[in-house]
Amino acid sequence: MNSVAIPPSALMDNYGSPTLEFVRGRGSELFTANDERYLDFAMGIAVNCLGHCHPRLVAALTEQANTLWHTSNLYRINQAEKLGQRLVEHTFADRVFFCNSGAEAVEAGYKIIRRFFYAKGEAHKNRIISLSSSFHGRTLGAIASAFNPVHTAGFVVGDAGFDQVEFGDIEALRAAVSEATAGIVLEPVQGEGGIRPVPNDYIAAVRQLCDEHGILLMFDEVQSGMGRTGSLYAYQQLGVTPDLLASAKGLGGGFPIGACLASEAVAAPMTAGSHGSTFGGNPLATAVGNAVLDELLSENFLIDVQHAGFHLRSGLEDLIVRYPSLLNSVTGMGLMLGLRCKTDAALLIAKALNSNLLLVKAGGNCIRFLPALNVTHEEIAEALAILDKVLSAYPED
Ligand SMILES: Cc1ncc(COP(=O)(O)O)c(C=O)c1O
Repeated sequence: MNSVAIPPSALMDNYGSPTLEFVRGRGSELFTANDERYLDFAMGIAVNCLGHCHPRLVAALTEQANTLWHTSNLYRINQAEKLGQRLVEHTFADRVFFCNSGAEAVEAGYKIIRRFFYAKGEAHKNRIISLSSSFHGRTLGAIASAFNPVHTAGFVVGDAGFDQVEFGDIEALRAAVSEATAGIVLEPVQGEGGIRPVPNDYIAAVRQLCDEHGILLMFDEVQSGMGRTGSLYAYQQLGVTPDLLASAKGLGGGFPIGACLASEAVAAPMTAGSHGSTFGGNPLATAVGNAVLDELLSENFLIDVQHAGFHLRSGLEDLIVRYPSLLNSVTGMGLMLGLRCKTDAALLIAKALNSNLLLVKAGGNCIRFLPALNVTHEEIAEALAILDKVLSAYPED
């Protein structure tokens, strides 16, 4: 482990005080200043979808950096037009709003939902329902909607126009819908909440409920999107189409960008001046976004993600068979997998870190596996071998 003296930090303590620092990365590998190698199965929490410093992304960013960085949205941005058009071609959406992060994409979605009804003269329809254990980011709206007291304490005033119901309980959702309900937001695969895919029949029932009551359905695919589950967006495997969708993380492969996608009718009230972002859709971010899409949409890329997902999942299932007192089950889709633990997941992650494997925790005592989408079978085998070694060192019970 990297054990250099840590200088005092001017940064606020909101991230704790991490000590491990990386100075370079390549593919699935990260290196410290001492050149110690780590295998990265966290990928900046599902951000570096093509691994570290992918040559195609480096080339796109370098070329754009040598051409034009920023002009503002006062002028047409060719790279943003192109990326928006491609997202429209490959999803349900007709219109795209670009921003800089997942929370901003979610926030834009909430604003669009309210504006949609306001523009129809139904301003009383302004409440949005979310599911328990959800995570939608850290803006005021995003934390208010997720109802996690650790995140809301001291920040949110009142209920800010949000309601919440139990994950997967369609009757509870039906009961929560009122004349004031404008939208329902959910992650097709909950990430922070513990890699929980929303059941197919539930999500179909939610869509039906929305249609019956004229409610807008928004999917937060900030984590599950951009090929992570083996399709461009997870909803494409669920047979249910949203009215709006928040995307970010993998969209920039490590460069900050977010997007809110919407149908024509839903986006229509977002007239000139209704919303904005200084940096949103800037040439650097959207040039990289286009390069990410070039790769994700190339022949067989998403099929390979599915194969890698099966491979990792079956390796994790083998570990469960071998260590039944420590491990419970595997959840998730594609390369968004969760290993539910009987032993303390945080401790197992710390032990894996000591063996130079990076993993990340999720709710429900779950370890998240979010490797690069182009992870090799050898790298998967290496990660499984490290876990095997760590688990075999646990005392017998
Ligand atoms: C489902 C989901 N929504 C929103 C966010 C917030 O994204 P960001 O941290 O880029 O604001 C996250 C981040 O983890 C997420 O997983």
